[in-house]
Amino acid sequence: MSYNISITKVEKSKVDALDFNNIPLGTTFTDHMFVCDYENGTWTKARIVPLGLIPTHPAAMALHYGQAIFEGMKAYKDTEGAPMLFRPEQNAKRLNKSADRMGMPNVPEELFVDGLKELVGLEHNWIPPQQGSALYLRPFMYADEPFIGMRAATHYKFIIMASPAGPFFSKHIKLWAEKQYIRATLGGTGEAKAAGNYAAAIRPTELAKAKGYDQVLWLDAVEHKYIQEVGTMNIFFKIKGEFITPELDGSVLHGITRASVIEMLKAMNYNVTERKIGIDEIKSASENGTLEEAFGTGTAVGIAYIKEIGLEGETIPVSDESPVGLEVNDTLNAIKTGQLQDRFGWMTKVKKKLV
Ligand code: COI
Repeated sequence: MSYNISITKVEKSKVDALDFNNIPLGTTFTDHMFVCDYENGTWTKARIVPLGLIPTHPAAMALHYGQAIFEGMKAYKDTEGAPMLFRPEQNAKRLNKSADRMGMPNVPEELFVDGLKELVGLEHNWIPPQQGSALYLRPFMYADEPFIGMRAATHYKFIIMASPAGPFFSKHIKLWAEKQYIRATLGGTGEAKAAGNYAAAIRPTELAKAKGYDQVLWLDAVEHKYIQEVGTMNIFFKIKGEFITPELDGSVLHGITRASVIEMLKAMNYNVTERKIGIDEIKSASENGTLEEAFGTGTAVGIAYIKEIGLEGETIPVSDESPVGLEVNDTLNAIKTGQLQDRFGWMTKVKKKLV
């Protein structure tokens, strides 16, 4: 089924005012947004409208009970200037997995992808051509039914916004291994991309930043020992030539960049193991010289190279060099921008629309 999406355009685009060389993530938004309502058990009124405020009832259930989930993805331009999406169907699937966990309705995959394509086609002039930059896309769903009481809402909004973004980290970063606060526990919402997971991470992240670290390295909720993920990314370690990343045990986000990097590393003939990995194992590998490199993977960050980890007042040095991470990053960027053949079949072309 193909969805009928009505389009109301702005009179004049704001894109000419954008400095494409200076766009920190999440600070600038494009002219339009895609909006769709869930009412009477079905998605209706799919539309693209000028980006603007949305009237919200103070009893909207998302504000009280937290039924709010989101996705993060990026659009790029290929060598001919055609807009491209990276694995959009994977984001649709993950949004619905999050929706299932949070008692929210699924968004049909076709509606998700059609909405994205229409929006990106219309906003193609906002895709930064600079290497490492992209048009960040934020599909999200929240309960907008006004009601006081604990049950699943019956009305929701599904919205896609677009925000041009430059590179996230330009240097090697430092992580703080968090022993007091936790992000997720088995049976919780850790693998859902739920707004509440990020809310719970804000205070510990502020504390880590105050100590001079860039992001929190989350440990398991029971023993405060096994590594789960990092603030806005999954994590990979290279020890004695092999890559290790924490297994998806229910508390870790199913990163689409994570899955893609696993495929790429295997294609480069590296062994990649998904398993439990303790912070003590990383510490020993650092001490005995077998910890070769580490990097985080995520949509917003891309690949973020890790130079050290702070653990209870001591420092675990990782590496100032990340040769494999760098190669993976360059290859991934080249695939996303059409400079390298898309041998994994990850890219989806979007038709340009004249603004
Ligand atoms: C992303 O990487 O797209 C995320 O959703 C993380 C976000 C908090 C910046």
